[in-house]
Amino acid sequence: MEIKVIAGNITQVEADAIVVNLFEGVEEIGGATAIVDKALDGAVGLLVKRGEIKGKLGEVGIIHTLGKLPARIVAVAGLGKRQNFDLDKARRVAGDFCRSLRKLNCCKVATILHGAGVGGITPEAASQAITEGSLLGLYTFQKYKKPEYEDIKELLIVEKDEGNPESSSGLEQAVHEGKIMAEATILARDMINEPANYMTPGRMADIAREICEKHNLEFRVFDSQDMESMGMGALLAVARGSNEPPKLITLGYSGDKESKSTIGFLGKGITFDSGGISIKPSEGLSEMKDDMAGGAAAMAAIKAIAQLKPKINVTAVIPATENLPSGTALKPGDIIKALNGKTIEVISTDAEGRLILADALSYAVKEGLSPLIDLATLTGACRIALGTGYSGAFSNNQELMDKVLQVASKAGEKLWQMPMPEEYKEMNKSQIADIKNTGDRYGGAITAALFLSEFVGDVPWVHIDIAGTASSEKESGYIIKGATGVGVKTLVELAKILSTKS
Ligand code: BES
Ligand code: MN
Ligand code: ZN
Repeated sequence: MEIKVIAGNITQVEADAIVVNLFEGVEEIGGATAIVDKALDGAVGLLVKRGEIKGKLGEVGIIHTLGKLPARIVAVAGLGKRQNFDLDKARRVAGDFCRSLRKLNCCKVATILHGAGVGGITPEAASQAITEGSLLGLYTFQKYKKPEYEDIKELLIVEKDEGNPESSSGLEQAVHEGKIMAEATILARDMINEPANYMTPGRMADIAREICEKHNLEFRVFDSQDMESMGMGALLAVARGSNEPPKLITLGYSGDKESKSTIGFLGKGITFDSGGISIKPSEGLSEMKDDMAGGAAAMAAIKAIAQLKPKINVTAVIPATENLPSGTALKPGDIIKALNGKTIEVISTDAEGRLILADALSYAVKEGLSPLIDLATLTGACRIALGTGYSGAFSNNQELMDKVLQVASKAGEKLWQMPMPEEYKEMNKSQIADIKNTGDRYGGAITAALFLSEFVGDVPWVHIDIAGTASSEKESGYIIKGATGVGVKTLVELAKILSTKS
């Protein structure tokens, strides 16, 4: 879909549909909505008065113009209560009205800038939000099935014509950035939605190579022989049950040649998690193709960063393997040795994410990357604790944590900080090795995070558990069923704010 910014009067735009809006509880309609209402001889006001259009968030009221306007449809997008409105609501609204209008065979849609001016939202921010929300809300994974509806081909963002040509160039830049964000998120979604018979560790490495070639990034991939010589006993142990060769993939962006420091984004890349010998129940097992969502997000974020070019250095590190049972598989009770020399007693082969991340984090520390952010579909316990709306965030450094919370909120990705109590480390103690890979029954997301903390040393680090948020069963706003691409926007925003400080 092409997105353009134009200046003019929305009622006069030649399009299949024009989109105006309404806050919930507003009786006296104003702004562009009032102008459209007038052109329709009061039809909008009437429907509002009758309570057919309420302005609830997610509602899209459809009015047929029957020749009164160049556009065939007027859509009234509900913005919810004014006091609750924020940038992420603007994204959601765009996703909702775009999907509604796609179902009505609209090929060309024109919209006003929803939310600009409300609670300090600038026209630029609103344009970026509409761009992200519309592209992500219209997303479908169409590689294996013809989509149900035709795509919307063109979205016009119509700003009031105030004879100021400079204003629209700012909006165009905002649209450009929104597109980069959305396209990166879509790359992550596409990778995650791919089944495990396609999205193997080797495929992930191929995609990483393509990204690096296209955007001039440094690409590295380590195979099992390299891992052997480096001492990545934990990643190799998980890979042992599978016939697919494991890969440790890195993508390096250098946007600040004067600086020696580089931040690290890590992502869990289990392309299928059967649980291994500690095999999972078969119900819902197909969902475990999503277990590389953290890795996909880290790769996609680097791609967006390469396009936005903040002044900073970033390296993404993705340990990728399958977790399968076989005659050569890792067994419960086995003791393995991670890259940093620590021995791990494997209680459950299904707690494999922390094993591969143990090596990836040790590698990142050894490479001098700092600070470190990892994204991982790590524990079912995190989903139980926070549900599917919030990712869990854990850190050894509150200053870094606060920055991550701040950028996540800007990105519209909900994070909730979880505790890392020293005394819970007791639960990871092994009688016969330095550490074991599962804790007790309770607090599973926390003991998993504490396990990871053993491999980061003193490096400032934030771990984000996305087990609850990486995929969605519902469609709403800019979230569709399947992979969400969560984490991409947060990582990109983090690279941006860390860059401006240096
Ligand atoms: N990939 C899973 C976590 C997961 C569960 C992600 C549900 C998405 C949805 C992870 O590898 C896992 O199996 N974790 C175990 C840990 C346990 C054995 C300590 C879990 O959460 O049950
Ligand atoms: Mn597992
Ligand atoms: Zn897993």
